[in-house]
Amino acid sequence: MADYDFDVLVIGAGPGGYVAAIRAAQLGLKTACAEGRATLGGTCLNVGCIPSKALLHASELYEEAASGALAKLGVKIDAMSLDIDAMQAQRVDAVKGLTGGVEFLFKKNKVEWLKGYAAFESKDTVKVGDRTVRAKNIIIATGSSVTPLPGVTVDNEAIVDSTSALELTKVPGHLVVIGGGVIGLELGSVWRRVGAKVTVVEYLDQILPGMDGEVRKEANKIFKKQGFEFKLSTKVTKAERKGAGVVLTVEPAAGGAAETIEADVVLVAIGRKPNTDGLALDKAGLTVNKRGQIETDHDFATGVPGVWAIGDVIPGPMLAHKAEDEGIAVAENIAGLTGIVNHDVIPSVVYTMPEIAGVGLTEEAAKEKGEIKVGKFPMLANSRAKTNHEPWGFVKVITDAKTDRVVGVWMIASVAGTMIAQAAQAMEFGATSEDIAYTCHAHPTHAEAFKEAAMAVLGKPIHV
Ligand code: FAD
Ligand code: NAI
Repeated sequence: MADYDFDVLVIGAGPGGYVAAIRAAQLGLKTACAEGRATLGGTCLNVGCIPSKALLHASELYEEAASGALAKLGVKIDAMSLDIDAMQAQRVDAVKGLTGGVEFLFKKNKVEWLKGYAAFESKDTVKVGDRTVRAKNIIIATGSSVTPLPGVTVDNEAIVDSTSALELTKVPGHLVVIGGGVIGLELGSVWRRVGAKVTVVEYLDQILPGMDGEVRKEANKIFKKQGFEFKLSTKVTKAERKGAGVVLTVEPAAGGAAETIEADVVLVAIGRKPNTDGLALDKAGLTVNKRGQIETDHDFATGVPGVWAIGDVIPGPMLAHKAEDEGIAVAENIAGLTGIVNHDVIPSVVYTMPEIAGVGLTEEAAKEKGEIKVGKFPMLANSRAKTNHEPWGFVKVITDAKTDRVVGVWMIASVAGTMIAQAAQAMEFGATSEDIAYTCHAHPTHAEAFKEAAMAVLGKPIHV
């Protein structure tokens, strides 16, 4: 340690970086974390998971009241209105509370926050602002940022990215979302619920790429019923400001006649790219792959001894919980323990209503690997979903036909984001559909649909 300032220096304080720093400190390593943003917590806490969920929750309650859904339950609200300032204030509050919480945890665990953006000077030396520090281990956890779309320049007024879409102070009359992925559907839902007409322009022939085919189709149907308009297999070729709004030119993805769409606000949500600009990776002897990511081995070690990488900046799904688990694992590996992340069992959730969740292989991918069995159970036949007036969706369990081991679980259900944890745990424990079918589930719960879908794998659900 003699000539090092720190055992561990983490670059970036998102869910990957801050968790890695806290775990390293807990393991007795002298740890610092460089972060250039004014608050800790990265994309997730500042402009991602947390503020989007604050708006999703508030807008969902608004829609339940405004649509008359609450009145049908006997909860009559005679006069109601949208107070967008209050809705936004509670978003800001949620972010403040949680980012402040990370700062508290840094202090509690004696993690030093180096304020500023870091750049490598060599493989063990980094400059942060006007301070130069040496560390025995450096973890790159710089995350990702919005992928720009050529020809559609974000001005944070009428053409917004996910960050400025969270901060709108007026409900747009017509919101056009470019990209039918997770951000487009979540933030599209927020603004649709409070009164915007929402059109989603998607390049592919279906929304939510990467998810199970049947789930994608069903989700599309549900969103259409909610009032979303979809222009699939369509590309945007131009966006021009016209007064306060925007005129978009679109054409079929395969080529064909162009048309224009007028929008009050356009949200560009076509994916995210790893953050490596400004890190001077070359000075550490590091390179990036074709997708701009830093490659690591299973331990999160890069090709340069002492330099590690985790989270959105490395390959794999760009998800906060994946980054967090990698943060714990990398700190444990640095401390000489064995930190492992099972990348085959990373759940993903779209926090719309209903929620959409999956873990493991899609039915299409599982079929390519070998013979499978599939069990499905509709939420319409689940007593709790029925009582709560949440009939949408289904649970689907995919197993290996020979061993009955669960290889994938997909669901659309009001609380799918919570239910998927059970599926992930079952898969981690190597469960078969029979194990799940013979596990007693409390009644009446949405989770019973998972048990019934598992029963359906062997052909014997009770309630359909
Ligand atoms: P980040 O959270 O991106 O953090 C990296 C940090 O590094 C940033 O704070 C950045 O300022 C800092 N940094 C970058 N370069 C430097 C440098 N040179 N020096 C110092 N600091 C630097 N995921 C989910 O799992 N669930 C969700 O519900 C969800 N919702 C999302 C909603 C939106 C709108 C967005 C945009 C993303 C959402 N995500 C969600 C994705 C999630 O935010 C990311 O997967 C997660 O934040 C990645 O964590 P990370 O630690 O790798 O990087
Ligand atoms: P995404 O990858 O989910 O979706 C982007 C969509 O844009 C895709 O459907 C793609 O086909 C489409 N697209 C790409 N180029 C296009 C073009 N030129 N024209 C029209 N469509 C085009 O990316 P998104 O929604 O931007 O989210 C970024 C990341 O953030 C995701 O990878 C996700 O993991 C993460 N995230 C996670 C959330 C969650 O876990 N609930 C919520 C929000 C974001």
